[in-house]
Amino acid sequence: MGMRISGTGSALPDQRLTNEQLEKMVETSNEWIVERTGISERRISNGETTSQLAAKACMAALGSAGKKPADVDVILVATCSQDEFFPCTACKIQALIGAGQAAGFDINAACTGFLTALGVADAYLSSGRFQNALVVGCENLSHLVDYTDRGSCILFGDGAGAVFVEKSDQGGILGFMQGCDGAMGDVLSCRSDGEDKIRMDGREVYRFAVRTVPICISIALEKASLEASDIDLYLLHQANLRILESIAGRLGVPMEKVPHNLEKYGNMSSASIPVLLDEIVKCGKIKKGQKIVMAGFGAGLTYGACVLEWN
Ligand code: ACO
Repeated sequence: MGMRISGTGSALPDQRLTNEQLEKMVETSNEWIVERTGISERRISNGETTSQLAAKACMAALGSAGKKPADVDVILVATCSQDEFFPCTACKIQALIGAGQAAGFDINAACTGFLTALGVADAYLSSGRFQNALVVGCENLSHLVDYTDRGSCILFGDGAGAVFVEKSDQGGILGFMQGCDGAMGDVLSCRSDGEDKIRMDGREVYRFAVRTVPICISIALEKASLEASDIDLYLLHQANLRILESIAGRLGVPMEKVPHNLEKYGNMSSASIPVLLDEIVKCGKIKKGQKIVMAGFGAGLTYGACVLEWN
């Protein structure tokens, strides 16, 4: 027994932070940011909390699946920028949308969080514990960004994406791979002792991503008994356009199969993949029976890849 994604949704703050605005905040230039990252602007919350953005994305996902909040069995939330240490975001979403029957909890695997949560949903549905799940990736990273550090503040944005998944006997997850390298944790961290700003060794994270993600995807493909060329779309964590190009190059995949929206939103950590998925679904780019790969990497350091048949 597998699962299918029957609804998608996303929510983005209206407020934009452009490269030109960043030029006035730190020593940088639009040309440098676009050339090194591909990013032109990001969305920054203007009072919206992580759980509020997430609740909007969840309602949109439920709407597109034709479901009501009361139908939800469990809410699995990936975030590393929750409103507060506790209560967790899943419980706040449950109250905000009125999903009175749902269980829920948060998962922190940074930018690999959404895939991790999707894997948990698949395990729950396969075991029969739950019949459906809302899987959410949501971030308010602007609260954690040091806007005096030009090496990191140019990258991150806020947003939320959600999917509604249901049990299904067709398609679903065909191959999955996830892992972490805790010994490298210091290259991307955000402490909770008052120094709560993102610290990053960008070059190390970059090297880690281009080395690890193609291997991770190859293992997930092998588990699915598929080749890289069998895949219709690669939805990769939206960190940096050069990272996406390098991963595609190493897999021998044309960039037409690697959609991106990081130019508009920057890196939204766990929200990147579900927001991209929602855009792709809305513009009709995914068809029944097509095979997609989703892959992410991030703080931890964590990594993960999933091969999915769209049904
Ligand atoms: N504007 C202008 N110059 C800059 C800027 C900036 N915003 N930032 C750095 N520079 C300078 C550096 O100081 C350096 O100058 P130097 O040569 O005089 O020392 C030069 O540009 C090159 O710096 P690099 O760090 O080598 O630049 P690089 O090409 O690697 O790009 C970047 C930096 C964009 C951060 C890149 O390394 C990257 O994208 N890394 C991955 C980061 C990432 O994806 N992080 C998120 C992971 S997801 C998560 O878990 C949250």
